[in-house]
Amino acid sequence: MEFSTIKGFKDILPDEVGNWQQLEKKARRLFHVFGFNEIKTPVLERTELFSRGIGQETDIVSKEMYTIPDSKGRGQTLRPEATASVVRAYIQHRLYQKYPVQKLFSIGPMFRHERPQRGRYRQFHQINAEFIGDPGPKSDADLIILCMSLINNLGLNELKLQINSLGCLKCRPLFQHELQDNLAQKEDALCEDCLRRSKTNPLRVFDCKVEGCRQIVSKAPTISDFLCAECLDHFNALKSYMNDVKVPFAIDHSLVRGLDYYTRTTFEIQTEHLGAQNAVAGGGRYDGLVKLLGGPDHPAIGFAIGMERIIALISEQHDKTKINRPNLFIAAIGEKAEIETFQWVMKLRKAGFWVEIDYAAKGLKSQMKKAGRLAVKKVLIVGDDEIATGKAILRDMDTKNQDEVDLQDIINKLKELLL
Ligand code: HAM
Repeated sequence: MEFSTIKGFKDILPDEVGNWQQLEKKARRLFHVFGFNEIKTPVLERTELFSRGIGQETDIVSKEMYTIPDSKGRGQTLRPEATASVVRAYIQHRLYQKYPVQKLFSIGPMFRHERPQRGRYRQFHQINAEFIGDPGPKSDADLIILCMSLINNLGLNELKLQINSLGCLKCRPLFQHELQDNLAQKEDALCEDCLRRSKTNPLRVFDCKVEGCRQIVSKAPTISDFLCAECLDHFNALKSYMNDVKVPFAIDHSLVRGLDYYTRTTFEIQTEHLGAQNAVAGGGRYDGLVKLLGGPDHPAIGFAIGMERIIALISEQHDKTKINRPNLFIAAIGEKAEIETFQWVMKLRKAGFWVEIDYAAKGLKSQMKKAGRLAVKKVLIVGDDEIATGKAILRDMDTKNQDEVDLQDIINKLKELLL
């Protein structure tokens, strides 16, 4: 029997890993200059953390969670996102006592039992940022600019930033009421889920992918007409900070995002290159979540970038001729040469050079073939005769030039030649 990955799960193969490492490296560098510290939380958490934090009526909680009961029958869930876990850690470890404002990032796998398709997996990875303790709107702008900068630094410039305000607990109920009344008149055309949501959590009707429901929400009232003075000031200040630093954005009043914890600012970065899965990153303010999960009444904003989607975009524009190449291949022929050169390999690797050898130590022809396959830059050819005479051949695989090198002080000579 041959095993293969479970549906919606995928291997990241050696050819792809370089892009993942680049992405993480660039993200870490940018997080550093924006003052973010890394946090690592477990992938398994109590189910209630997500159902309470993300919201019972959301697709994530109602349909997509991987839940495994513990020995006492209590639900444990593979994290579908990082925000609830980071907030749990912030509260559990009283992180706010040391520094009232916490800027935290994390990178890792998330799990959602969605229908797999291009850009949508059941295990996927997010770069996640949470800025906890500041009410904004300057922190909103700061965080959105961080997210955009990260994406632009990867050379991805054709992405669109959409922003919205979802109002606060004061003004949003008025909108929800109006929306509910509006949806009540179109009950017959709503899908079964939306019929239920229209009564319990009408904002979630905006998440529905069913064409009929989409038509209905496209004509429904939008939150923009209901924002209170404070929310409007907040949104206007955010827009003006963004304009001041010339980060372009568009306003999309239907951007409610699929999680219940958002208040005021929401945003998404979208692409036209990934078909239906057009969001490469999304986030927003969640001023009530820390309190809802049992902590102090601290405001927060955050985002998550979908790594698979970013990697897919990078791979499309990646120069496939740029491959990593070993610095040197040492072809050893004969017992003495093999023993001697093995020590050189270790010394050169210790000095940071990528050196390859043929572990089976076959003839010269087969070793040269292997060096060619590995696309090495240079090959040092050493036989027992060369060990005896103290001279060997160094071949440049690009120019085909061959130089005689002195084997005395070979390590320093090779270091010089390879640099
Ligand atoms: P989200 O919009 O659910 O937000 O996910 C953020 C990003 O993760 C999406 O824009 C997408 O790129 C990627 N993503 C989501 N689901 C999948 C999937 N099944 N396969 C591949 N990629 C996926 C959140 O998760 C919030 N926690 C973001 C946040 C942080 N809000 C505040 N702080």
